[in-house]
Amino acid sequence: MKVVILTVLIFFLIVNFGAATLSKSDREKKKKVDEPIKERASASSSPKADNGEKSEVLLEYDTLDISERNFQEGITIGYVTPWNNHGYDVAKWAAKKFTHIAPVWFQINSANLEGQLSCEIGGTHDFDHGWVEDIRSNNSEIKITPRFLFERWQGEELKSFLTEEGAARRCGKAIVEFLQRNELDGAVVEMWLQIMSMTRGSAAEFLLEIIELWTKQFHSAGLEFIIPLTPPLDPTLKEVGIVTPKILMTLAEHVDYINVMTYDYPSQEISGVSPIRWVEANLRYILEVSQANPSKIALGLNFYGYDRTNAAMDAILGKRFLELLSTKNSKLEWDEEAGEHRVLYGNNGIAYFPTLRSIELRINLARQLGVGVGIWELGQGLDYFTKAL
Ligand SMILES: *[C@@H]1O[C@H](CO)[C@@H](O)[C@H](O)[C@H]1NC(C)=O
Repeated sequence: MKVVILTVLIFFLIVNFGAATLSKSDREKKKKVDEPIKERASASSSPKADNGEKSEVLLEYDTLDISERNFQEGITIGYVTPWNNHGYDVAKWAAKKFTHIAPVWFQINSANLEGQLSCEIGGTHDFDHGWVEDIRSNNSEIKITPRFLFERWQGEELKSFLTEEGAARRCGKAIVEFLQRNELDGAVVEMWLQIMSMTRGSAAEFLLEIIELWTKQFHSAGLEFIIPLTPPLDPTLKEVGIVTPKILMTLAEHVDYINVMTYDYPSQEISGVSPIRWVEANLRYILEVSQANPSKIALGLNFYGYDRTNAAMDAILGKRFLELLSTKNSKLEWDEEAGEHRVLYGNNGIAYFPTLRSIELRINLARQLGVGVGIWELGQGLDYFTKAL
């Protein structure tokens, strides 16, 4: 499962970059910064009893809101994956809720072009043209920006790609031509964390140059370039080191949007998937050091949860959450610190999963900061989440 792989990667990177573990004194220090959120959280939440919220979820979960956007202050990107294919329907039926749909289909693979290193697009068997047309017929303004994953590059190939401008240029051209040929509007290019981990963090300068080159190639073709990034701050709100201020500033200058993956909270403690204070601190940090127009940034919203029973971290989807809620004596409880719901079940079961309330809390944060949102991913969540979008 992608999410788990990413989580493992993040843990790996954090360990490797020598970030400190969560300490109490750091948390105390941060208290002050957190206060505005706390007020907002209690102001926006109605004092419903737990049982009331549980039956609300069980009653409302499959109501899809197909009306116009409620959240209009920034972009709304919805990712869709072939392995949770209900997301295809959500994207079509609730197409008016999104500015961008990013199907997770393609890979950027290495290719040999007349003896020279270039790229070819993998995953084209997943391309569903009819579905793209269906979405457009329900929202003519929508942008289809598939996610392209950079992976499986090694050794000399990777080195040539990073250091030879010609190779990067041919590769960028191959992606641009693919997008144009298929009448797509741009791409989410997922390569930062991948290349940083392949090179143990040593390739940042080369990567920035490639991204600068590619964004130029994209923009001359009228295409949008979106880049996903891991959150720059760890649970103690210290810099992780994969995403430095200089990197943020350079990226913000060139790309159209930065989608910050503010979930998979990298703490060993049992806590939420995306604790609200950590999300807010990361976004404020990015806005401050990048000097980006907030409209270029998207807050990452997870539509999946984690079962944390016995300190495990097993990704769960909407169906499992409903099952847990339906078990006898299970209890839905609001975690004030995380700004997320958790369900307590069985002897010692505990699982975090988003609810309308936790999503609204984050959408309100996006509103307040003037940023957009990026949702991972539509097929994992519950249909009624669309009410917040
Ligand atoms: C457009 O949305 C409506 C309402 O959700 C849905 O019934 C219809 O199937 C969608 N159109 C297409 C072509 O998918």
